[in-house]
Amino acid sequence: MKIIVFGSFNIDKVYSLPYLPERGETLYCQKYEVHVGGKGVNQALAFRKAGAEVIAAGRVGEDGDYLTDWLKANDVNASFVEHGEGYTGHTIIEVAPDGQNQMILFGGANLGITPEYCDRLLDAHRDAELVMMQYETSCVEYMLEASKKAGIPTALNPSPYTEKLKELPYDMVDYLILNESEGKNITGKNDPSDVIDSLLKLCGGKVILTLGDKGSIYSSGDISVSVPAFSVNAVDTTGAGDTFTGYCLYELLCGASPETALKKASAASAIEVTRPGAAETIPSADEVDEFLSRREK
Ligand code: RIB
Repeated sequence: MKIIVFGSFNIDKVYSLPYLPERGETLYCQKYEVHVGGKGVNQALAFRKAGAEVIAAGRVGEDGDYLTDWLKANDVNASFVEHGEGYTGHTIIEVAPDGQNQMILFGGANLGITPEYCDRLLDAHRDAELVMMQYETSCVEYMLEASKKAGIPTALNPSPYTEKLKELPYDMVDYLILNESEGKNITGKNDPSDVIDSLLKLCGGKVILTLGDKGSIYSSGDISVSVPAFSVNAVDTTGAGDTFTGYCLYELLCGASPETALKKASAASAIEVTRPGAAETIPSADEVDEFLSRREK
């Protein structure tokens, strides 16, 4: 199954701190690491680990070979990634001991994607079964419309939240996958079932809402399924949502039941948060199956 993951390529600069700083506060960092990241890269890897053939699409700057070489070494097709001038996107990530984080995002080359690039990408991969998007690149709206015109189903992870997200053509989205705070911000509702009802009215397709340690919900209007989260000792939650996204959508596209898809995705993200980093720590499908068989005994 061929999936296009159209998204951001970031170099993640990760600072481990004793706690997340207050405004105006200076803190010594206990550890500094550089990781492969960006929602596009992370989701590309998650789809690949779950079992898909993945075309990673996006744009990097002069310092971006680190990301494309890494994807290629991990069996993801990165030959369509555009290499431009200037800096690759990067993220400054502050991580607290309980794994919670806050981020500063520099868009860099991710913001230089053009409609012409999107058209070339879709022309070259008309046989793809899904185009996966997030909201860290230019041309998301264009890509949603162009994918639909090309007859390829779409998935949107509307993250990170900005007010402009409300303007996207949600009726072009077949799978909308997002977390609780993104859902609340987009709909203005608080209760998860109200959030889901509003999102179902906005988009024609299926909605998957993650609720952190409260689990996740799948809804297609007719069917609604929820599964609890697995309890683990988190050290870094960066990339948990991306891991969930890749595993959940791959399973659904393969015909798994919504319950199985949510369970596998929850297990994959539960494993991922026990390790520092994002894309590099996404587990293999075998690891996910082993985890599930241990937890379900
Ligand atoms: O979803 C996690 C990702 O968000 C990080 O890898 C960071 O680069 C930002 O894009």
